[in-house]
Amino acid sequence: MILVTGGAGFIGGNFVLQALQANVGGLVNLDKLTYAGNLQTLQSIHHFPNYSFYQGDIGDKSLVSKLLIQHRPSAIINFAAESHVDRSIHGPQDFIQTNIVGTFNLLESARLYFDTLEGSEKDHFRFLHVSTDEVYGTLEKSAPAFSETNPYEPNSPYAASKAASDHLVRAWFHTYGLPVLTTNCSNNYGPYQFPEKLIPLVINNALKGKPLPIYGDGLQVRDWLYVTDHCEAIYTVLHKGKLGETYNIGGNNEKTNISVVQTICSILDQLKPRSDQKSYAEQITFVKDRPGHDRRYAINASKIASELGWKPKETFETGICKTVQWYLDNQDWVEGVVSGSYRDWVSKQYTE
Ligand code: NAD
Ligand code: TYD
Repeated sequence: MILVTGGAGFIGGNFVLQALQANVGGLVNLDKLTYAGNLQTLQSIHHFPNYSFYQGDIGDKSLVSKLLIQHRPSAIINFAAESHVDRSIHGPQDFIQTNIVGTFNLLESARLYFDTLEGSEKDHFRFLHVSTDEVYGTLEKSAPAFSETNPYEPNSPYAASKAASDHLVRAWFHTYGLPVLTTNCSNNYGPYQFPEKLIPLVINNALKGKPLPIYGDGLQVRDWLYVTDHCEAIYTVLHKGKLGETYNIGGNNEKTNISVVQTICSILDQLKPRSDQKSYAEQITFVKDRPGHDRRYAINASKIASELGWKPKETFETGICKTVQWYLDNQDWVEGVVSGSYRDWVSKQYTE
């Protein structure tokens, strides 16, 4: 039995689907259903007898304690977070509340529960915290990729809130002996990603004939990982990771933003050509840069490869084709998530 938090979001949702399709015991999903949480993602499994969903906040200690006592999970995997850098710039409050205070409360609930466990239940219990490479800050063009020993140098309110949560998780291991694991992953992409993030936003805008906004010069570099590879890495760390350790997870796919967008345009040109036969690349528009925009992220994932035997299965080329095809095949899902509040966000971010 696993308690997943944030399992109606992008990565958590993919994890829940993968775990249940692979028949992994029981799964309890606790999600607040913010704008980023979507139960449509979980339609195919919501009736499974070994699955239950609760709408609620990771910071609600009495709810979390009740769920822990009722379901007696052997692991908590914390995906729940405010996750979008641009939103954290416009309004950091929710990031502080969920990512820092929420994680603190979740750790406290987990600690109380862990203290009641005995024998093998206690030995097997794990708290896995899902975090990001953005805690390490930014890299110069030729600097070595982030390893687990890099200092934390977060630059956005989002990254700072995730860094703070990582520190709390670490402290609950060293001070209270809570059996924790932390993963720091690079940029994910794939099915069910909310179309505020670069890749689904570009696919969605392209199909709607809208501009494809590139911040600044578009030469910022991200290391892209297909989401199912991330989920498998989390599963690997949960089962084989050494307590108290952190594991960097990445796809070995460093790409500039402009090249990612051009790749998406050329895949769409083949799969769904524009009616005027011009390329979707015509819609590319350079816009004002993000304040404090990190120039480059890159992950050195050799620790998880050598110690736990995990490697990504998808290359960027295979993963991006699958992703574009998924969005073409699942326009209903996209239409379902781009509600009124999404439109408010787009006009705030891209017209100001
Ligand atoms: P997401 O924004 O798509 O989903 C977050 C989910 O958490 C949503 O379902 C939301 O409803 C839920 N949530 C938010 N606040 C909550 C609260 N207080 N209590 C309970 N549920 C709450 O995010 P994502 O992209 O799936 O990211 C999941 C995790 O992975 C985050 O911790 C993020 O920092 C981390 N991460 C993301 C990426 C990426 O590229 N997306 C990369 C590395 C790490
Ligand atoms: P994003 O998907 O928001 O992830 P993160 O900021 O966590 O890396 O953005 C990925 C990159 O794409 C980042 O360098 C910002 C850039 N970007 C754009 O150029 N235009 C956009 O409209 C968005 C959303 C992002």
